Amino acid sequence: MPSPVIPPLSSAAFALRAAAVTLRADPFEVGDEAALHHEADALIVVDDGRIAAFGDHAALRRALPPDVPVTHHRDALVVPGFIDAHVHYPQTGIIGAGGKRLIDWLNHYTFAAEGEFVDPLHARHVADLFLDACLSHGTTTASVYCTVHPASVDAFFAAAEARGLRMNAGKTLMDRHAPDFLLDDAQRGYDESKALIERWRGRGRLGYVVTPRFAITSTPAQLEAAGALLAEHPDAWCQTHIAEQLDEVAWIAELYPERLDYLDVYDHYGLLGPRTLLGHGLHLGEREWQRCHDSGTTVVHCPTSNAFLGSGLFDWAQAKKTGRPVSVALASDVGGGTTLSMMATMGAAHQIAQLGGHRLSATRSLHLATRGAARALQLDDRIGSLTPGHEADLVVLDLGHSPLTRLRMKRCDSIDQVLFMLMTMGDDRAIREVYVMGRPIGVERLRMAVADDAASATA
Ligand code: GUN
Ligand code: ZN
Repeated sequence: MPSPVIPPLSSAAFALRAAAVTLRADPFEVGDEAALHHEADALIVVDDGRIAAFGDHAALRRALPPDVPVTHHRDALVVPGFIDAHVHYPQTGIIGAGGKRLIDWLNHYTFAAEGEFVDPLHARHVADLFLDACLSHGTTTASVYCTVHPASVDAFFAAAEARGLRMNAGKTLMDRHAPDFLLDDAQRGYDESKALIERWRGRGRLGYVVTPRFAITSTPAQLEAAGALLAEHPDAWCQTHIAEQLDEVAWIAELYPERLDYLDVYDHYGLLGPRTLLGHGLHLGEREWQRCHDSGTTVVHCPTSNAFLGSGLFDWAQAKKTGRPVSVALASDVGGGTTLSMMATMGAAHQIAQLGGHRLSATRSLHLATRGAARALQLDDRIGSLTPGHEADLVVLDLGHSPLTRLRMKRCDSIDQVLFMLMTMGDDRAIREVYVMGRPIGVERLRMAVADDAASATA
């Protein structure tokens, strides 16, 4: 075998030695075994914020200059930073506000919490707390809903920029069927979004997402304005909700009687395509799945939210139907979702699949929260896998973070078993360290900061 090559390194280069796992292809396309790359003893060389080399430790170490420091993480597994493809940062404070279904939940808890973001200081405080909490759960990228207030977007992007994070976000557009204090109008929503795009798009690692909340809280004029924003800014993304609950679907049919179905509403206004992420999609019909496939639109599965709000079971048979697979990514959907942990979310996805009579392997779950989500965001040339040249957003998972996981690990005899154990038993205590563009964030310190911050917010 030829000696592996490590490119010339700067004096700041370093390396991690640990077990590591990443996806090198889509397991839904090529099968789990061909897609999963597991190194039982890996070396990951990081330089200038990027992965310089990744491979078997013994083979790579020979090519590594002796002055490059190597940190050996024992009883650990390195994975790419997790990607949360749909999350509402202004809902951080209402996680677990329960007992209601979607429309009542929005009216009772959510809109009130979002109204508080009229205060830019509150927005910045929650943005800081949310991002530190994401990081301490191993999430390094997310597609984020802000509120209707432009200052909530400024606060979020400023907090993300300060941490060097790759984050996509946008102002939530809503001009009806919500309290007055949360409404814009079609023109104002357009103008404010455009100004935010110009201010933040492409700055550092930030991206702008045109974000009509859903077709119930946007008039046709607002959806048209959202379509115009996307047409004018091909580098922007689009996110919204679709077909989460049946009474929502019925209301859409009343509001848009001239459209074929829910998806056709978004299609009509030019909102579909390979940079569009539709949350939930639990009650889509055959035509809608076909159209998602044809347009390259992603459906984002939010399992803890679907269980918490009683929304339904994700239809894997439809989503990955032979011959017309649809791009799927995974998300927490906090605060409808109950955890920011993408590991717990992977575990929930497995459980929801079981309830629906489908098998979702650990490899596929990992794909949905890393490489698959990166692909859905068209960022898979930068993040989502352990690939030389990619940005070094990495998570070091602790395989023995509790007595029960140590006990369970003794019986794990394959990487599949280890991943299932982590998904089922892992939470933020399993995160030993997180690297953002090659910079260790100091998870312990961060956990304490989140606790202090939350305490001061309630004081
Ligand atoms: N549909 C419209 N808005 C929301 C929201 O904030 N959360 C969820 N889960 N669904 C929605
Ligand atoms: Zn949502």
